This record gives sequence, structure tokens and C-alpha cells, in this order.
Amino acid sequence: MDADTQTKTVNIILLGPPGAGKGTQARMLEEKFGLIQLSTGDLLRAAVASGTEAGKTAETVMKSGGLVSDEIVLAILKDRLAEDDVKSGVILDGFPRTVAQAEALDVLLEESGQIIDSAISLEVDDEAMVERISGRFTCGSCGEGYHDSFKTPAKEGVCDNCGEGSFKRRADDNAETVRARLVAYHEQTAPLITYYDNKRSLSRCDAMANIDEVASSLKTLVERVLS
Ligand code: AP5
Repeated sequence: MDADTQTKTVNIILLGPPGAGKGTQARMLEEKFGLIQLSTGDLLRAAVASGTEAGKTAETVMKSGGLVSDEIVLAILKDRLAEDDVKSGVILDGFPRTVAQAEALDVLLEESGQIIDSAISLEVDDEAMVERISGRFTCGSCGEGYHDSFKTPAKEGVCDNCGEGSFKRRADDNAETVRARLVAYHEQTAPLITYYDNKRSLSRCDAMANIDEVASSLKTLVERVLS
């Protein structure tokens, strides 16, 4: 966290298809502005790993590339939003993904006098996303994200962030599942661009640029929200 650390409550959504860079950029914004990244994908993977009933149901759906039911996702999100560390605001990564989730989120935030300050659509070409996803790996200790071509650790086999040396790849990061996830995005999530545009909270960001350029554009957008 640095001098740009925010002091007012701010809720930001990163919208975009699989591979758009939501996780990569949310982590960078978290560090830069002291906001908390909240990824429903990560919360669901934790539920799968801990073997809860919700996790077992979610696992099959996630492997197929479809969307987990609104009921399961909202229950998990509601629990997470009740924790103290997110009271100053969040960067939502991978949520909402349906109009029903967006409406439920509005109701949830309203209960504590909050709103969505900005929904940022990361705009990318579908064709490039299969390559981005198939080359992705993360640090098994701290979760830092990498890519075989676009972001490799400075020292091979050692995480830049925490210095550990175990990396992992996600079970749903194969070309077939990525295509199914792209279909789910266009059918069920892309309508949220119009949803937030109608609320006048939408911004768009060219996310085909390299990681640092996208980070710089997002920094400008977030600074505008904070000012
Ligand atoms: P989730 O975990 O949310 O996955 P996703 O949306 O498919 O997004 P990804 O994490 O794959 O991509 P990303 O945009 O974060 O890209 P990243 O930054 O890693 O969801 C997984 C599943 O859980 C869903 O399919 C669904 O089943 C379920 N789920 C989750 N939330 C749900 C919800 N709300 N409702 C219902 N179901 C839900 O970048 C990808 C790679 O590209 C990385 O290697 C990175 O280094 C690289 N990269 C990033 N930016 C760039 C760039 N600008 N140039 C070059 N490379 C880049």
C-alpha cells in the first residue's frame, strides 16, 4: 500500500471475460489503493477445496465452464462482505456475473448505505483470451499470477512476490472450458455493461494493451473515482 491509499469507502467492479486481466489488475489496484480484492472465483475454489456442499455443487459447474447458481454465489459473497476488512470498500473481480447478481448486490450495499462507485469493463478480443488463459499459472503460496509468455518470474521457479517456488495451474484453464466460459460471459455477463451504463457508473478500458499499460489506465480511472 502506498501514498495513494484511499480513505473513503469505494466499491469498484472489474467486468470482463475470462483472461481479460481482472485478477491481475485487481491485485495491483489492491496494492496501490489499499482496496480489498474480492474474487468470487477464488471464494468458490476455496469452497471446492474445503469440500462443503456448496463447493461440491460448484465444482461440477466450474469444470464445465458454466456459471454457478446465483443462490450459491450470493450466499458466499454475503458471508465475505460481512467481514471487517472489506468495510472500506472492495474491488469485485468476477462478480456480479448476471443481472440478478447485480440487483442483489445493489440491495446488499444499500443496507449499509453504500453503492457501486464504478464498473470498469476490460475490453478484449475473445481470440486472444484462450492463449492468455492456457499460459496462466499462479504462485501456490501467495497467489501472485504469471503467464508463460507475458509475465514470467524474474528468477525462474521463484515467485517475485513471496520468494516461494511452488506454482499451480487451474483445473478449468484448458481451451475447451475457456470457450464455454466465453460463451457464458457473452450470454449472461455482458448485459451488465448496459446495466451499469444505464446507471452512469460504467467506464471502459482497453485491456488488449500490455499489463503495465492497462494498470496505468485503471489507476487513472480509480483516482477519478477517489477524487
Ligand atoms: P473466475 O475465477 O472468476 O474466472 P474468470 O472470470 O473466467 O476469469 P479468470 O480468472 O480466468 O481471468 P482474469 O480476467 O482474472 O484474468 P487474469 O488476470 O488471471 O471464475 C471461474 C469460474 O467460477 C467461472 O467459470 C464460474 O463457473 C465460477 N464463478 C466465479 N464467479 C461466479 C459468479 N459471480 N457467478 C457464477 N459463477 C461464478 O489473466 C489471465 C492471464 O493473462 C494471466 O496469466 C495474466 O498474467 C495474463 N494477462 C493479464 N493481463 C494481460 C495483458 N494485458 N496482456 C497479456 N497478458 C495478460
